[in-house]
Amino acid sequence: MLKSMSAVWIKIFTIFCLCYTAEMNGVVWKEIGQSITIQCRIKLDQTHLSLKKGINKDNDSVVIYKTTGKITTSEEMSRRVQTHGIFPNIDILIKNLSTSDTGPYWCVYSHTDESYKQQTTDGKGSVLLVVTGKDFFY
Ligand SMILES: *[C@@H]1O[C@H](CO)[C@@H](O)[C@H](O)[C@H]1NC(C)=O
Ligand SMILES: *[C@@H]1O[C@H](CO)[C@@H](O)[C@H](O)[C@H]1NC(C)=O
Repeated sequence: MLKSMSAVWIKIFTIFCLCYTAEMNGVVWKEIGQSITIQCRIKLDQTHLSLKKGINKDNDSVVIYKTTGKITTSEEMSRRVQTHGIFPNIDILIKNLSTSDTGPYWCVYSHTDESYKQQTTDGKGSVLLVVTGKDFFY
């Protein structure tokens, strides 16, 4: 128990150090079963928004397309995600959180430039989510 607890803390600490950049809003603590709203914002015109998960931003949790309004979610997020707002300013609600949802989430926007290259820009609203069980602090 104690051993697994410190492993969790080391993980949180590592993620925090790696992700504490200018774009990161901060750490959000939630309990299992609660919800989080991630408020992605950007001032520039964009074609789609990816809510990316992980230190290396390697997993697309939610992708929202401006023109079609199409929304795709990862397997682990399916049926738990609702979006509100007018593109590119989107509030992403994730319900029924579990400990495996712990990690950094990034608001990454993309658009295609004049030479048809895909350009990505970090928006505002990225957070480090920590989901804890009831026994987390004991
Ligand atoms: C990314 O997705 C893969 C496959 O679904 C999964 O195994 C991995 O744990 C995910 N990574 C994160 C950081 O959630
Ligand atoms: C919440 O997620 C858990 C698994 O993490 C699942 O067993 C439970 O049925 C879900 N509850 C709701 C209301 O969807």
